[in-house]
Amino acid sequence: MAIRIDGKKVSAQVRARVAHEVAALQEKGIVPGLAVIIVGDDPASRVYVNNKKKACAEVGIYSEEFALPADTTQLQLMALVHQLNARKDISGILCQLPLPAHLDEKQVIEAIAPEKDVDAFHPSNVGRIMIGDYQFLPCTPAGVMELLHSAGISPEGKECVVIGRSNIVGKPMAMLLLHENGTVTVCHSRTKDLREVCRRADILVAAVGKAKFVTEDMVKPGAAVIDVGMNRDEAGKLCGDVDFDAVEPVAGAITPVPGGVGPMTIAMLMQNTLMAAKLQNGLSD
Ligand code: GUN
Repeated sequence: MAIRIDGKKVSAQVRARVAHEVAALQEKGIVPGLAVIIVGDDPASRVYVNNKKKACAEVGIYSEEFALPADTTQLQLMALVHQLNARKDISGILCQLPLPAHLDEKQVIEAIAPEKDVDAFHPSNVGRIMIGDYQFLPCTPAGVMELLHSAGISPEGKECVVIGRSNIVGKPMAMLLLHENGTVTVCHSRTKDLREVCRRADILVAAVGKAKFVTEDMVKPGAAVIDVGMNRDEAGKLCGDVDFDAVEPVAGAITPVPGGVGPMTIAMLMQNTLMAAKLQNGLSD
């Protein structure tokens, strides 16, 4: 039976560390600030944004929400980003994705000042990750690495398989595993014999967005299985990309959904916002 990697516990540890550092900064008169932009009324985005604001309040980060109507124009959104780039009290800017279809996400991401890009989505931050000379890491892959470290699992010399090649998770995830000397394979919808490739993995990261996609026959006995998915099953219950009940007896370690990677994403956002405030105030990290 696999050990369960407890994302709630590890995320609480990260947030406690951040809160401690935020308190020390406040003594120097510095308050990290996060601007959260949400456009429209997507219910999932609303939940994520509320959780992010709550986490800010808990660690002592100032947060300001900009809830814009669904018919906001590109020009209005760009004007807001430019205003926030110029504000001294805002250390980090996060625009919750996806945006309504008529808006150009790429243009918005590229307008956020790289030093305030706490999602690490800006091409300049993405490029820095590629060459291993980065400040911000994208929150979800960074959270996965933190979970692996907490469980004493090192990618060094291991076969690591990432299912999914999104810019937000799959691609940066592969890069972080590579930086820690894993042998990395990225699988996607055109991969031939996905099952066999996954079965090679000592560390298997599922970021596909399909409920219970990873079944026990895809997992090598003893492997660490990290589930980035956040889906609903047939009964409407929250579930990951991994069929947890079937895979748990085979895996060596596994993250649950909920309570695995999800809480880590928010903890890493807090860490990035703290780092942004420090860098903008000339304090090296
Ligand atoms: N939508 C889904 N995940 C994310 C994320 O990590 N950041 C932002 N900004 N939007 C998202």
